Amino acid sequence: MRDSLSDELLGWYDVHARDLPWRTGPAARAAGERPDPYRVWLSEVMLQQTTVPAVKSYFAAFTTRWPTVADLAAAEDGDVMAAWAGLGYYARARNLLKCARVVAAEHGGTFPDSVEGLRALPGIGPYTAAAIAAIAFDRPATVVDGNVERVMARLHAVETPLPTAKGELTALAAGHTPEERPGDYAQAVMDLGATICTPRSPACGICPWREPCVARADGIAATLPRKLPK
Ligand code: ADE
Repeated sequence: MRDSLSDELLGWYDVHARDLPWRTGPAARAAGERPDPYRVWLSEVMLQQTTVPAVKSYFAAFTTRWPTVADLAAAEDGDVMAAWAGLGYYARARNLLKCARVVAAEHGGTFPDSVEGLRALPGIGPYTAAAIAAIAFDRPATVVDGNVERVMARLHAVETPLPTAKGELTALAAGHTPEERPGDYAQAVMDLGATICTPRSPACGICPWREPCVARADGIAATLPRKLPK
């Protein structure tokens, strides 16, 4: 779907995108250049359960030492585990290496460019497959993480609590995903959730979606998404 909502968000992203080491810069983005799938994959695996500031130095260390997926595939297990030390959740590092070796041995060192192809790789679940397909290959995949759930819950004032609301929020996110620039759109929603539509005290006054946001109009943005007591 192409709607003015995605246009407004993309316009905001063109000015306010976070400058992150796994992204292409504004000039390359304007020229339609995509980021390296290896770097997108590595960053997405590292960003699971770890914050952007914590990931940056690890990402730099990995990409300096192993600049391509073939380099990583050829690494010693112990060297990769040692380089991962401090990031936690070590199953991610073991799967990282497994995945690199499958991409190197079975795909000639090139990541598959579809959600289905990516899903077949070790350690790549629905979120990561969608993120790589969208960000690296500009596929209109729907990328849904906690940021996206929060943004959708507020935009549409979904008061059903999580996790019950997951399906509804995913469908809403899918409905807004544009056919043009879906990769930038996916990153724009994540940036919006990380910098403006934050869990507490969202900065609604400077939000590109302040006009259409139903929760803001209802005065309940900061209370969404609701969560079932654990
Ligand atoms: N969190 C997870 N993936 C991200 C990305 N590509 N950009 C910003 N934040 C993220």
